[in-house]
Amino acid sequence: MLDTTLIAETLPRAVTWSDGELYLLDQTLLPQETVMEKQETAEQVWESIRVLKVRGAPAIGVAGAYGLCVAMKGFQDLGLTDFITEMEKQAAYLDSSRPTAVNLGWGLRRMVRIAKSAKVSSAVELYKVLVTEAVAIHEEDKRLCRGMGNNGAPLIKEGMGILTHCNAGSLATSELGTATAPMYVAHSQGVKFRVYADETRPLLQGARLTSWELQKSGIDVTLITDNMAAHIMSQGLIDMVIVGTDRVAANGDVANKIGTMGVAILAKHFGIPFYVACPSSTIDHDTPTGAGIPIEEREDHEVTNFGARRTAPENIKVRNPAFDVTPNELVAGLITEKQIITAPYTENINRIFGQD
Ligand code: MRU
Repeated sequence: MLDTTLIAETLPRAVTWSDGELYLLDQTLLPQETVMEKQETAEQVWESIRVLKVRGAPAIGVAGAYGLCVAMKGFQDLGLTDFITEMEKQAAYLDSSRPTAVNLGWGLRRMVRIAKSAKVSSAVELYKVLVTEAVAIHEEDKRLCRGMGNNGAPLIKEGMGILTHCNAGSLATSELGTATAPMYVAHSQGVKFRVYADETRPLLQGARLTSWELQKSGIDVTLITDNMAAHIMSQGLIDMVIVGTDRVAANGDVANKIGTMGVAILAKHFGIPFYVACPSSTIDHDTPTGAGIPIEEREDHEVTNFGARRTAPENIKVRNPAFDVTPNELVAGLITEKQIITAPYTENINRIFGQD
């Protein structure tokens, strides 16, 4: 297995915990400006998640866990019972910022569970337990990224073209990314390949984030608009698709950024394998199929405007679902930190990860 520490050191960090303070890289300003913003209140963290200053399923899981520490820092003078009641309230509040990525609720539930079972005698001690657990979630996410990188890299062969959608990179996680982890590992092993990054309307995560971080790391990346994917595939330029995911249902149905299902259908048409990089923290064992995954609907202005400029008529009716669900039969494999899981998904997900 490759030691990925060196690659990781060169990648941008979405979430930083330093001297007891939370800093988030404001991704709404990328790629023009790189600004780390200190988070002082639960409301600020909620807003940062909501407006996508921090985004990507694993990164919001980590930011939510630290966000609970930010929220509880000022309550350390409470009695233990009141501290726990407040902590549950703050966790529910942070969890309400975005609905689709399961990692946010998963991380917050884990924080609350660990805190409630801790043998401590004061709120000050319990606050320390919260911080320790948030750091553990952060470190664990780095390990999950490395595992997906090592398991997915052998799929990438010399000369291949790989299409990705949205940003499932270091900016969306704690380190190597999910979809990008196999790319970073293969690149560091000297394998030459090309990546095509879908622009990803309406918020341009592919253009602003994926193409930026891959270009910075020296990977050969070409930006295309979403509606160019079919044409590029038809020209034989794509050998494989790798995307990330916000939530995988127990049967292997995959929620990811809006447009992902279209890419999967195109990939099937052209006989191109469609892989999903999925850390175990993104598997939702309690949701049997993709039909049960809540899909976030965002504000109209993201669709009616292109950047600051309005591009649609006033009073036009708009839909803005932020995610879609790709049926499991279109998925060639789930690249996880343990292994690549293939169909039958219900059986294999359960066998490999079970339910904790
Ligand atoms: O709305 P976003 O930018 O948070 O959406 C992110 C995605 O859809 C990613 O592909 C997904 O979270 C996986 S990130 C490793």
